[in-house]
Formats: sequence, structure tokens, C-alpha cells
Amino acid sequence: MDFKSYINDRKRQVDQALERYLAEDRGFPEKLNKAVYYSVAAGGKRVRPILAIASAEAVGGSIDDVLPLAAALEMIHTFSLIHDDLPAMDDDDLRRGIPTNHAVYGEAMAILAGDALLAEAFYCITRLMNRSGVRPEVVVDVIKDVAMATGPRGMVGGQVLDLDAEGKNISLEELEKIHRHKTGWLLTVSVTAGAKVCGASPEQLAALRRYGEAIGLAFQVADDILDVEGNEDELGKPIGSDEANEKATFPAVIGLKASKERALRLVEEAHAAVKGFDDRAEPLREIARYIIERRS
Ligand code: IPE
Ligand code: IPE
Ligand code: MG
Ligand code: MG
Ligand code: MG
Repeated sequence: MDFKSYINDRKRQVDQALERYLAEDRGFPEKLNKAVYYSVAAGGKRVRPILAIASAEAVGGSIDDVLPLAAALEMIHTFSLIHDDLPAMDDDDLRRGIPTNHAVYGEAMAILAGDALLAEAFYCITRLMNRSGVRPEVVVDVIKDVAMATGPRGMVGGQVLDLDAEGKNISLEELEKIHRHKTGWLLTVSVTAGAKVCGASPEQLAALRRYGEAIGLAFQVADDILDVEGNEDELGKPIGSDEANEKATFPAVIGLKASKERALRLVEEAHAAVKGFDDRAEPLREIARYIIERRS
């Protein structure tokens, strides 16, 4: 399997869908529209949408079945990045290789651009309704899953734990809790929701959840490592931001070497979880490896 062209092809289709959905007239004031578009169009790896698509494909679905969900996940993720970079949070000035949203449009517009993307994401998921074969109760179930992973129980709650832990010595257990909430759950849901839309069985969903939980944590471990060892040009965001903010990270709590070993073990766990799947799960296997080997 040519993983590079697989990723590039899915990424292109996600980018086109995002452009289409966001370009439609929703009555956004023009300056809000510009601020929203600025961060979405800046790029990013599109890992969450690609996971939703790869998971759909692993259970026999297709990209067309899940495109609105895939785009919605990227909208939520982009909202979380815009807010994460704000002066009141991580106070970063570079994201996706360009100045952060608030640095260009001001804090008020950056907050509102994030708010807009969050609400627009849930509207976007309802577009699944127009797809043949997706039952309304499945769409409601997916909305519930994505809301739980995003809100106080998930990413937003995790961001609070992350801020609370600044400057503190915390245990590995507490650190994992932060990471599973602020980052892991949305990645897990990208995998499970993608498969749910395509009619996955309870057994398939349970296996995909285990895969998603493993890569979800691995993703943030790799992010923490890249903040120490990465290259700003490749990464498109500042290096050393975590140390400057005295963040609780894997390298800070268990050291770089143990962090890398943990990341490797998590990828093995992810692979073991989808052992029973056929060749159609090959992209999921490749993505798990990519998550810890990436340079950006
Ligand atoms: C960065 O996410 C923030 C985390 C949740 C760790 P990504 O590494 O997916 O960022 P983009 O979307 O590629 O810019
Ligand atoms: C981000 O964690 C979690 C989010 C929900 C955005 P980080 O603060 O480590 O993400 P980066 O390193 O700024 O992308
Ligand atoms: Mg942060
Ligand atoms: Mg940050
Ligand atoms: Mg980080």
C-alpha cells in the first residue's frame, strides 16, 4: 500500500469538503468568515478526518459516507487550536506555519472564530442525514459521541486539567488523565464515529475503540516529544512552549527515553487491537506508526 498517496488523496478530499461547507452562505460577518477560514486553510495534517475515513473503510464503508463527519472533526480540532494558542492559554504566536489567529485578527475575533467553528461542526454532522443509508438515530448517536469527546467530559475538561497542572509535579496517572481528555478522546471518537456511520458491529466498534484509545494517547506523547526535539520549520509551531509554560508533559514526568518507549508500546497496542481486521484496515495500521514517527 502506498501510504503517502493514500494520505495525500484523503487530505485533498477533506480540504475540498471543508472549503465547500465553509464557503456556503451562512450569514457570517465577513471578518469572522476571514478569521475562520484563515486557520482552517492554513493546513494541518488532517489526522482526525483521515482517521474517520480510514476507520469507515476498515469496516467496508467509503469516504463519501463520512465526509461531513470528517470535516466536522477538523472544525472542532481547529477551534481547539485557535483557543489553545490564546494569550490566556498557551500564549503561542505560530500555528500551522503562520501567525496564530489572535495575532492576526485579535483576541476577540479569535475567540469568536473558535466558537463559530464549534457550532458549525455540529451543523456539519447533520449533513450525514442526506447520505443514503445513514439512519437518523445513528446521526444523533454520533452527535452525542462527538459532543462528549469535545466538551467538559473530554477536550475542554482536559484543557482545564492541563492549565491547572502548570508548574506542578504530577503523577504519571494524572498526566495520562490530562492527555486522554485534552487530545485522546477526540481522536478515539474520530475512529469510532467513522465506523458507526458505516454500520460497524459492536465487536468491531470495541476493537476500534481500543485502537483509538492507544493512538489517542500516543498522539499527545509524540506531541510532547516534538515540543522538545522537533524542528520549528517542520512543525509549524514553536518548540519549547511546554517548558516555557511549565506544562506537565511526558518528557517532563518520565523523561524522553521512557516517553519514546511508551509511544512505541501504544502503537503495538493499537496494532493488536485491529489484528482481526483484514487488509482494509491497513491504513489504520500505517496511521498508528505515522503518529509516533511524524516530524510535524
Ligand atoms: C496539535 O494537533 C494539537 C494536539 C491536540 C496535540 P495536530 O498535530 O493534529 O495539529 P495539526 O492539525 O496538524 O495542525
Ligand atoms: C493541545 O495540546 C490540546 C488541544 C486540545 C488543542 P498542546 O497545547 O500541547 O497542543 P500544541 O502543542 O499547542 O499544538
Ligand atoms: Mg495546550
Ligand atoms: Mg498549545
Ligand atoms: Mg503540544
